Amino acid sequence: MSNPETPAASGAPRIRPSSGAAYARIHGVGGYRPVRVIPNTEVLEWIDSSDEWIRSRSGIAERRWAGPEETVAEMSVQAAGKAIAQAGIAPERIGGVIVATVSHLKQTPAIATEIAQRLGCGTAPAFDISAACAGFGYGLSLADGMVRGGSAEYVLVIGVERLSDLTDVTDRSTAFIFGDGAGAAIVGPSDTPGIGKVIWGSDGSQKDVISQTQAWDTAFAKEDAVNGTGTEIKWPALRMEGQAVFRWAVWEMAKVAQQALDAAGITADQLGAFIPHQANMRITDAMIKKLQLPDSVPVARDITETGNTSAASIPLAMERMLESGEARSGDLALIIGFGAGLVYAATVVTLP
Ligand SMILES: CC(C)(COP(=O)(O)OP(=O)(O)OC[C@H]1O[C@@H](n2cnc3c(N)ncnc32)[C@H](O)[C@@H]1OP(=O)(O)O)[C@@H](O)C(=O)NCCC(=O)NCCS
Repeated sequence: MSNPETPAASGAPRIRPSSGAAYARIHGVGGYRPVRVIPNTEVLEWIDSSDEWIRSRSGIAERRWAGPEETVAEMSVQAAGKAIAQAGIAPERIGGVIVATVSHLKQTPAIATEIAQRLGCGTAPAFDISAACAGFGYGLSLADGMVRGGSAEYVLVIGVERLSDLTDVTDRSTAFIFGDGAGAAIVGPSDTPGIGKVIWGSDGSQKDVISQTQAWDTAFAKEDAVNGTGTEIKWPALRMEGQAVFRWAVWEMAKVAQQALDAAGITADQLGAFIPHQANMRITDAMIKKLQLPDSVPVARDITETGNTSAASIPLAMERMLESGEARSGDLALIIGFGAGLVYAATVVTLP
């Protein structure tokens, strides 16, 4: 067995350890919602459904879809600008830019570097992560570690999606669900704990439950094969086994949320807000029951007007609750994200 003290004891040179802030918290949050609103009536032009069915099965009344100018980078810069302003810091103090997204269609380079440069974050390390609807929680966990570990003073975490680019509008099980947008948070040093232990994980055995219909190379190979024959190749899109996702979310995610509360030493009645991933209103309601959340705790229900924006959904919902006065700065919020992978991340945070 290796002994961690051996090198120093033997007089070997010792690496000076990195150390950072005692604790981290969220200093600012901001969101960007695309201009174009897609009401359920428009979705009914694509699929055989009804406004009543969509509302009762998902809670969604409308969603926003990005226009050509509302790129992943543009929406991110807008959202991050608001988060930076709320945090009241100069962008050059940001020592890390993490962009969680599954819908930036140009794989290289990471979109985070362009965003960091446009925001004036100097030479901050900037990278993308792919953790679907848990992306914001994954980013928060990394940022918390970076601030406390001393590799950054402030970290910008962005969740951003243009899921409309990956939506098959003829697919009845997904056409009404997804939306576009960006949400951002600044994580930085704190005198008191502002981010609890992040309970995060994955289950690759369920990798096919939510996934892209086909890989890009498969789609291009098919296109080559039919070139000139007039056969139409379907653009890759997101597909989902709705009932399997629903069951997993309701049964497993309430347990994960409870673990996050327990790890933070917080009880449900001490919460000032519950901000679950905006996947489906019925999933949210089922989790509330399983967690025995008191009626007095405000719950994010942003899905009604925003749809499911994957990595962007938690920071967008957080911003809306703070702006509307439903939740207040300093309140404790339980957040939980879950989705394709399958992946999940939950924690308790102090609201900025
Ligand atoms: C997608 C979802 C709303 C579908 O609801 P569901 O009750 O599972 O729907 P099913 O696919 O079992 O279909 C039930 C019925 O509704 C019908 N139906 C399916 N899609 C429909 C639509 N868009 N409009 C109207 N009817 C529809 C089906 O044909 C079926 O009819 P039948 O009973 O006559 O055969 C639901 O599974 C869900 O919310 N899953 C979780 C999705 C989610 O949160 N994803 C995000 C994870 S990050």
